[in-house]
This record gives sequence, C-alpha cells and structure tokens, in this order.
Amino acid sequence: MPTLRDAWQKVQKSLENAPFLVAPREGQAMVTHLCGLAPRDLLARAHTPFPEELAYHLDRLLARRMTGEPLAYVLGHTPFRTHDWQVVAPSGRVLIPRPDTEILIAEALLVMPRAGGRVADIGVGSGCVLGSVLDEAPTARGVGTDISAVALALAAHNLSRLGLAHRTQLVATPFLDGVDGPFDVIVSNPPYLSDADYDALEPQVRDWEPRDALVGGPTGTEPYPLLAAQAHAKLQPGGWLLVEIGATQAVAVEGILRGAGFAAVATRPDLAGRPRVVKGQKI
Ligand SMILES: C[S@@+](CC[C@H](N)C(=O)[O-])C[C@H]1O[C@@H](n2cnc3c(N)ncnc32)[C@H](O)[C@@H]1O
Repeated sequence: MPTLRDAWQKVQKSLENAPFLVAPREGQAMVTHLCGLAPRDLLARAHTPFPEELAYHLDRLLARRMTGEPLAYVLGHTPFRTHDWQVVAPSGRVLIPRPDTEILIAEALLVMPRAGGRVADIGVGSGCVLGSVLDEAPTARGVGTDISAVALALAAHNLSRLGLAHRTQLVATPFLDGVDGPFDVIVSNPPYLSDADYDALEPQVRDWEPRDALVGGPTGTEPYPLLAAQAHAKLQPGGWLLVEIGATQAVAVEGILRGAGFAAVATRPDLAGRPRVVKGQKI
C-alpha cells in the first residue's frame, strides 16, 4: 500500500514536467491538505498508508495544478507568516499573500504603540497584513478597507478564524473614505504594477490573480498620492504611514509622501535587499 511519502513524491515527480515554476514541496502541501494534517506533522507520518479514497482527490488537485493554477488557489489557502490564509471564496479569489510583504508587517510592528493603538490597512485583501499586525500587537485594534467584496468576505473569514474579529472593523470603501481617524499606524500594500508590468507577468500570476489587486494604473504609482493624502489626514501627530512598493518605485513614492506632508521619509529593503517599504511620519 502506498505511503504518504509515496503519494507526495509521485505528485512532485509529475510536477517536474510542468512548463512553469513549481516549488519543492507542493506534493507535500497537497497531501497535508487532503489528510487534514498540520504541515509539521507530515514527516512523522511519512510511512503511514495514504488512504485509498483520497487517491482520486489527489489526482484532481494535481490535474488542476498542471493547468498552471497556483497552488494556493488549488488548495484554497496558503501559509503567510505564522498562519494559513483562505484565498478562495465561492464568489472569487484574492491576491495570494507574498513573502515580500513580511517586511511591511515587521516595519509596522516597530512603530506600533507598546500597548493599545489603532491601525488601518488600506486594501486589506485576505487580511494577512492587518491580521498579522494585530496578532503580534495583542491589545491593538484595526480597520481594514477594500473595494472588493470578495476580499472583504475572505478577510472577515480569516480574521474571525484567528480570533481577531472583535478587534477589527472591515469597511467597503476606497482608501479611507468615510473611515474615522485618528490612527497610530496606517499600512497598505496597494496595487502597484504598471500596465506594462502586468503584461510581462508570468501566466501563473496574470491568468489567475485578480487584476484589480495588482495593477495601480499606467505607471503603477497612481494609488499613492490619494492614499498618502488620506493617511496624512487620518493619522495622529507622530503616527506612521508604511506602504509596500515595487522595487523601482522608491524615489517616486518617497516624493509622494513628502509632498503629502510626511517627515522622516525613508525606504526599507526586503530580505533580498530590494527597496520594498516606504514609510513616513506625520509630525
Ligand atoms: C496588492 S493587494 C494586497 C492584499 C493584501 N493586503 C496583501 O498584502 O496580500 C491590493 C488590495 O487592494 C484592494 N484595492 C485596490 N484599490 C483599492 C482602493 N482604492 N481602496 C481600497 N482597496 C483597494 C484590492 O482589491 C486588493 O485586495
């Protein structure tokens, strides 16, 4: 009888023939998902039999993945920071959280008040940024906004599953329109690809992830001026705005934050050394 290890190795071998980039442990992720295991428990059970009734379902997951559908959408969820996030709802999908965004959370946590505090996340998507900040700032409260009903539904689901619903408010609105301040910290990972960036994306992203979550406009930086102006109006004096940016946008976005009145404007690199977060303080 095939073991769990046989099952995931067979999947991984089949994925070697895929005409797109495949991560090293996708087979393991599918088996973990189907068996209802925590990822950390998989290796200890590698030699247990793979239930026969799951073989058909594993084949179905593999077949979907072989079409180029991202693993996160095939499984319906994806890990980010310390939790798993649902990214598929009956009504649609949200942007898949990227490891690149972890630096936005790390930087936000550095400027959160020691106790309490109020944070806003513009473009909450799956809720992975707001949820991660609140998870690690256990007495803070937060507001997440989005213009996508699918995103707001998934954020509500994810924040509730993490026990954060009582500390969060989700609002269907562009930027912070109609949302009352003041906030101590405002974060955002807005859509920032240009039209040309979008056309050049690998099909695994372009054909599957929501365009409105990725593209900021013809140059990509279009969302930042309004975002910065609204954030400046709704921050406490001393509060911080932190935004994720594309790797070539640091100079432009720093200029936008200064133009909106922010001081101490600076860019922080991600773990690979690429400019990734621009921050500014309201004085
Ligand atoms: C790049 S995704 C970020 C999602 C999530 N915060 C993350 O980091 O994975 C951008 C999100 O902003 C939302 N969005 C786009 N324009 C917006 C606007 N004007 N106001 C609020 N949200 C917006 C999109 O629907 C999408 O969910």
